[in-house]
Amino acid sequence: MNTVGHISHGLWVHPSNTRHRFNDLDFWIEEAKLLEEGLFDAVFLADVIGTYDGYRGGPETALREGVQIPSNDPLLVIPAMAAVTKNLGFAATFSTTYEPPFAFARRASTLDHLTKGRFGWNIVTSYLPNAARNFGLEDEVAHDDRYGIAEEYLEVLYKLWEGSWDDDAVVRDRESRIYTDPSKVRYINHVGAHYRVAGPHLSEPSVQRTPVLFQAGSSARGKAFAARHAEGVFVGGTTIESYRTNVADIRGLADENGRGRDSVKTFASAVIVVDKDRESAMVKAEEYKKLSSAEGYLAHAGGGGIDLAAYPKEALISDILAAENRQGRDNSPENRRYAPGVTVGDALETLTRFDRSAFFVAGSPTDVADAIEGWVRDTDLDGFNLRQFLTPGTAEDFIAYVIPELQRRGLYRTKYEESTLRERLFGAGNTRLPDQHPGARYRGGAHLGDASAI
Ligand SMILES: Cc1cc2nc3c(=O)[nH]c(=O)nc-3n(C[C@H](O)[C@H](O)[C@H](O)COP(=O)(O)O)c2cc1C
Repeated sequence: MNTVGHISHGLWVHPSNTRHRFNDLDFWIEEAKLLEEGLFDAVFLADVIGTYDGYRGGPETALREGVQIPSNDPLLVIPAMAAVTKNLGFAATFSTTYEPPFAFARRASTLDHLTKGRFGWNIVTSYLPNAARNFGLEDEVAHDDRYGIAEEYLEVLYKLWEGSWDDDAVVRDRESRIYTDPSKVRYINHVGAHYRVAGPHLSEPSVQRTPVLFQAGSSARGKAFAARHAEGVFVGGTTIESYRTNVADIRGLADENGRGRDSVKTFASAVIVVDKDRESAMVKAEEYKKLSSAEGYLAHAGGGGIDLAAYPKEALISDILAAENRQGRDNSPENRRYAPGVTVGDALETLTRFDRSAFFVAGSPTDVADAIEGWVRDTDLDGFNLRQFLTPGTAEDFIAYVIPELQRRGLYRTKYEESTLRERLFGAGNTRLPDQHPGARYRGGAHLGDASAI
């Protein structure tokens, strides 16, 4: 994330962490080079568009602790990283809830052009009440309504990215003085419940047209959305078994949508502390634990949830949600996070754990490779999103210790095949959306309605 502390709260104080350099373009250039050296598929950039001001009644804790504030725009660092790499992919987060789709469509096409087809988009609907207040609303749009908006948002984008221009629209014919053949470009004339967009799209077709679509919905509505649109899903879960179930669910739902079980690549967050041997890794993990900030984690959790500091430890979360009249009001993550019977004290203990993740391994290169191999075998996951404790330390450790072991086992590439991001995930020749994807239906201007000719 283009910020000092993404989800490893408190670790910014570690003497070898360079996260405070995130305002400096060289920080991103160095990071991109490192990840490409490590033959990573892509760098994932998270984002939020508000601050976490629900804990202790204000943003003070988030500010003191550097919890995703200060933070900058994730899209703007991509061209610098693309300029110094050839193969690394970029998956950046952008929210569908607050800004209308037309401008984002152009930004995404620009990035896909500049990266030569290495751009992916993590679709989020945003969960922070403060984000709503930054964009002119009194309060958050209800959870399921956000997904309703997102559906229409995607429809507009597909019309612009896939339907507005034909591949051969740009002719650049100096002799006949025609740059673009107008008969091959069209208005989209979208009119819906939330958006009216005329088009045409302002960018000519980029390498992938639609960027690779990532999503991380875990609610019923979120999963249904993923099954329709997502090509990469950040799967959630609390145990290895729940990951297995969630992966199977997503694949099953994608199949029901006519896309096929393998049309979606699934990823889990991997939280890894590795060193040359188990003992050294344990020492390192202990050091991270000591520097972790419980207050930081609570500020993060309180951003969209309940203010745990405001209640006694023995209070039941279900009673608090009922008293705040929120239970059942929507499907937001905080209403699903807590099992019945969980108290404020239980929640505090869980949320403040620095190693809170189903996939947490602190150990030797062999321990980590065993865990990765075992998880892929037992869950049917396709890959992992490596959480950073230190930048660049976490990636450096992974590259030095884990990748050689994975390569020895034949589980990790030894060189890149030059490709677009979509080909990286789905194989050579798959640069564009597959025909079964809902975005593909607008190709060639189909399904755009009547007044589409220019
Ligand atoms: C790996 C991962 C990364 C995520 N990144 C972001 C992000 O950058 N910004 C954001 O607003 N939400 C992010 N989320 C939250 C999801 O978009 C989503 O809101 C959450 O998983 C709850 O699902 P639901 O929206 O279906 O209730 C992320 C979730 C996961 C699992």
